[in-house]
Amino acid sequence: MIKSREMAASDLAAVVRIEQQATAFPWSQKNFADCLKSNHKAWVFLSDNNEIVAYTIVQKVVDEAHLLNICVKSDSQGKGLGRDVLNHVISFANTMSAVLIVLEVRSSNQRAQQLYLSAGFNEMSVRKNYYPAKEGREDAILMGLDLDLMSLFSIHD
Ligand SMILES: CC(C)(COP(=O)(O)OP(=O)(O)OC[C@H]1O[C@@H](n2cnc3c(N)ncnc32)[C@H](O)[C@@H]1OP(=O)(O)O)[C@@H](O)C(=O)NCCC(=O)NCCS
Repeated sequence: MIKSREMAASDLAAVVRIEQQATAFPWSQKNFADCLKSNHKAWVFLSDNNEIVAYTIVQKVVDEAHLLNICVKSDSQGKGLGRDVLNHVISFANTMSAVLIVLEVRSSNQRAQQLYLSAGFNEMSVRKNYYPAKEGREDAILMGLDLDLMSLFSIHD
């Protein structure tokens, strides 16, 4: 399992560099700083030489975990890291006794949707024209992982 630790303010410059390379509509440094100030759970994931290669941010909302951001450095993608980071989020959500993990993903982001579907997430609804896009706007797919259902499956396995 890849090494992880909580994200610190001193990580933000590196995190924003990764965000800008890996995403078409990157969060600003202030977006990340606001998450840390709000005490959202944020982790960075480290390579063997302690370089940040991925990060994620989760907001606790009563008994739900909202996955606000998950990102793997461009040249580290496609090697299973995204799955490791998502598994970390699922473990955290189980630890906080969350019943549901929810997230929004761009309708064009097939890669991320595949990752979520393969981890057991389902499509819950569509928010029409939610995101700004290169041309006009783009729908958000709201996806959820029902952790109560997951625990029932693991009991009966
Ligand atoms: C989405 C993201 C986190 C996936 O991370 P990753 O390290 O590349 O993914 P993994 O190597 O762990 O692959 C996990 C699964 O993702 C899917 N996937 C990975 N690469 C894919 C590709 N090129 N096309 C389609 N699906 C792909 C597959 O389901 C894969 O499972 P498999 O290997 O069993 O087939 C990463 O691409 C990323 O950071 N993208 C930019 C930021 C982003 O879009 N974040 C999500 C916002 S909602």
